Amino acid sequence: MKVAVLGAAGGIGQALSLLLKTQLPAGSELALYDVAPVVPGVAVDLSHIPTAVKVTGHGKDDLAGALTGTDVVLIPAGVPRKPGMDRSDLFNINAGIVKNLIEGVADNCPDACVGIITNPVNTTVAIAAETLKAKGVYNKNKLFGVTTLDVIRAETFVAELKDVDVASVHVPVIGGHSGTTILPLLSQVEGVEFSDDEVSSLTTRIQNAGTEVVEAKAGGGSATLSMGQAAARFCLSLVAAMQGENVVEYTYVQTDDSDDAAFFAHPVRLGANGVEEILPYGELSEFEEKAKNDMLEGLRGDIKLGVDFVTG
Ligand SMILES: NC(=O)c1ccc[n+]([C@@H]2O[C@H](COP(=O)([O-])OP(=O)(O)OC[C@H]3O[C@@H](n4cnc5c(N)ncnc54)[C@H](O)[C@@H]3O)[C@@H](O)[C@H]2O)c1
Repeated sequence: MKVAVLGAAGGIGQALSLLLKTQLPAGSELALYDVAPVVPGVAVDLSHIPTAVKVTGHGKDDLAGALTGTDVVLIPAGVPRKPGMDRSDLFNINAGIVKNLIEGVADNCPDACVGIITNPVNTTVAIAAETLKAKGVYNKNKLFGVTTLDVIRAETFVAELKDVDVASVHVPVIGGHSGTTILPLLSQVEGVEFSDDEVSSLTTRIQNAGTEVVEAKAGGGSATLSMGQAAARFCLSLVAAMQGENVVEYTYVQTDDSDDAAFFAHPVRLGANGVEEILPYGELSEFEEKAKNDMLEGLRGDIKLGVDFVTG
């Protein structure tokens, strides 16, 4: 398995690359690409960790070297939020970065599975899809918006609130990855009960968790370590599935469900070729049904922005 991280010298990229260096199956290859001149150094640094994962570093002129032969591409390249910014404020810079990198994917590893981390994910995934379509290599089963951070945050916060072992908590999170488009399904969490007030405040906390980090970092960026962990979990699940294991993760994928939005985070059964099956998200409570209906227009608008960016 060859995994490429594009934006590997950044806060997320370095944390993610460290976790992959220590956790990818033996014999894997990890290619690090970034426009920042430090990237070969990050690769050398990681290469001194004694695991059977080969690390290579690729500077700004060697995207092809990073991507050739790659099975899984993870993209955290781009600028993060500062206090007062919404994820959509990142669009102007990050849209072009994602489009360029995806053109590289189309040219060098069109069959790879691609996980987009760069915000605004609601929109950058649509940009990636349209860019791959324009290159004639789009496969909807191989493009993912990485929303795993919403899941791990939700699980952490539920375990804290209910004082239960976090390892036993599973929280479905559907929709998109911004503000109210993030929809945790607390009604489906097994083994715990929530009051209406708890559902309301916990939902809001999960939706605003990214802003909690942005404000606490006070201008120093957004979530990097927890995001590194989330992206590593997603990547390792995908790699395990590509090697034959039965794995389900919540992720933002093309759904073709006209009732929701063209892209929507669902539970997805992963397999050798990416999406094996998009599973239904089950029954929603009245609160969740209303929250979903209220956010759909915004999510569809975010997606249209991405489509229009590429198709003009
Ligand atoms: N999906 C999520 O849940 C989630 C969570 C947190 C952050 N993010 C997003 O991830 C992105 C990265 O965040 P970060 O904190 O790691 O930022 P960062 O600034 O620390 O790192 C970004 C890296 O991208 C590199 N880069 C910029 N343009 C590039 C290009 N064209 N090609 C390759 N590399 C390029 C930079 O040199 C830098 O090393 C941001 O857009 C942020 O909003 C997503």
